[in-house]
Amino acid sequence: MIYSDELIEEVRLRNDIVDVISGYVKLQRKGSSYFGLCPFHNEKSPSFSVSPQKQMYYCFGCGAGGNVFTFIREYENYSFPEALKLLADRAGIALPQEDESEENRKRRDLRTAVLDVNKKAAKFYYYLLRTEQGARAMAYLKDRGLTDETIRSFGLGYAGQYSNLLSRYLKQQGISDSLLKESGLVQISEKQGMYDKFWNRVIFPIMDANSRVIGFGGRVMGDAKPKYLNSPETIIFDKGRNLYGLHAARSSRKKNMLVCEGYMDVISMHQAGFTNAVASLGTALTSQHAALLKRYTDEVILTYDSDEAGVRAALRAIPLMREAGITTRVLRMEPYKDPDEFIKALGKEAFQERIDQAQNSFMFEIEVLERSYNMKDPTDKTRFFRETARKIAEFEQEIERENYIEAVVEKYQTSFEGMRKLVMGWLLQGVPARKQPEQRSVPPKKEDGIRRSERLLLTWLLEYPKLYPVISSRIAPEDFSDELYREVAGMLYRQMESGKPDTAWIVNQFEDPEQQKAIAGIFNTEIRVESPRETEKAVLESMRKVMESAVEERSRRLDPSDIAGLQKLIAAKREIQELNRLHISL
Ligand code: UTP
Ligand code: MN
Repeated sequence: MIYSDELIEEVRLRNDIVDVISGYVKLQRKGSSYFGLCPFHNEKSPSFSVSPQKQMYYCFGCGAGGNVFTFIREYENYSFPEALKLLADRAGIALPQEDESEENRKRRDLRTAVLDVNKKAAKFYYYLLRTEQGARAMAYLKDRGLTDETIRSFGLGYAGQYSNLLSRYLKQQGISDSLLKESGLVQISEKQGMYDKFWNRVIFPIMDANSRVIGFGGRVMGDAKPKYLNSPETIIFDKGRNLYGLHAARSSRKKNMLVCEGYMDVISMHQAGFTNAVASLGTALTSQHAALLKRYTDEVILTYDSDEAGVRAALRAIPLMREAGITTRVLRMEPYKDPDEFIKALGKEAFQERIDQAQNSFMFEIEVLERSYNMKDPTDKTRFFRETARKIAEFEQEIERENYIEAVVEKYQTSFEGMRKLVMGWLLQGVPARKQPEQRSVPPKKEDGIRRSERLLLTWLLEYPKLYPVISSRIAPEDFSDELYREVAGMLYRQMESGKPDTAWIVNQFEDPEQQKAIAGIFNTEIRVESPRETEKAVLESMRKVMESAVEERSRRLDPSDIAGLQKLIAAKREIQELNRLHISL
């Protein structure tokens, strides 16, 4: 569906950014802007600003920024159409009905219907847990150390003693048999006909990132087998793409995510304050899981079980994370089996210590590797070092390889030179490089002064419209050094001509949230100057820099036979000199 620009603009204008963001972040007025704690990185003092004039937000800490659409996309992890829908609904604007194929519409209706069935079921289970017949289930959860608050916030429930309670209830609610089948909540056998998938089990509703119930896990209250049953995959439940606990973990505001194996582990960790814990749903981690995690974090700490299966799961997860651009560390659970048991036995402080000590994933891999060699046998030990060297050779950058050689040398008391030669040997043979995680939230590469000056000029233009004739007569949009800046400057100039600068509109002309963020950065560049006098000087200085760089660029490109071009260049140089005599007053 393609929406018209007018409609998109209307939705934007009818959603004041301060109102919208206030629904997510506590904001306080400070001068002409509002400030709050940034929802996109962890911070203690507010550097997240929202400007009612610009209708944009920008975080001076992590550089997140954009307009109201960007915010919803980033915060809710929505696509643009989803964000548009949310904001249109919020403002009471009806979007034109998608003219989609019959088949798509049916699928969408079915998804909505199954979500609705799940919601009804979750409420039913939740209710049963609190009735007489749920007493044993409640006692079981309490016995496992869960508080009322935890039981409530994870929406835990009980499936009832009989195998038809839920289906009977849902049918009463008017749910058809075929919809019941689609939801995966019932099973059909020749003998019994239709009966509930879950009964006499404690229920763990599984939610997607937006807190919609997409499936269930059910645990026996003792040692019977199977310990857990899970909803089958349905039209809305794809185990490879969802993580248990993500709806809560996504807003934990911690710098990493804890990934574990089980429902109870997630819940225990959250209860102990580790609200950034998630679990894959009884399946191995997939690359889709990794991509999902990457939306929220750059670092994962694996808190898998300490048994052989947990170690194997970690070894499989590490390369997937790496490919998704996530750095991984591995937490040692010994002597306990899983996070739930660990926290119960040693408490949250001890768990936090283990988090702090979590091991670099490479060193973890090496340690596991070591177990298959007899380090007392010189031949075997050499093999181990060769294998380790091969893994080190996979790192792309020399400095990284050296750091790992150093770490290995230190840990195994071997020689640096020896190890380096082994690594070099593998490099000469040609070992494929492993992809390196690029960090998203680290500060951008040290930017060059020119760009900063350009951004300052554009920020000032907004703040002091009377600078427009001064700047635009000397610096054209094409003079900016970066493609994005040129486009943005062009748009801003046109708006200034008509007297109506509207940077939030400019943001909307770009689809990629990364570009939107960059634009928010352009219009939120700060400089510490004390007085208007100083600002005036800074403006002149910035103009000079930008003009000089533009002239340099032009002279580099100039064809020596282009006389007219040469004359222009000389004129431009003169203009720069004349800046000395230019006075501006703000
Ligand atoms: P675990 O066997 O480690 O159980 O399975 P647990 O999480 O520690 O559970 P408690 O503490 O005994 O209650 C880890 C995860 O594997 C899936 C579940 O998602 C479980 O949380 N699983 C396990 C199943 O789906 N089915 C099973 O029969 C067992
Ligand atoms: Mn457990």
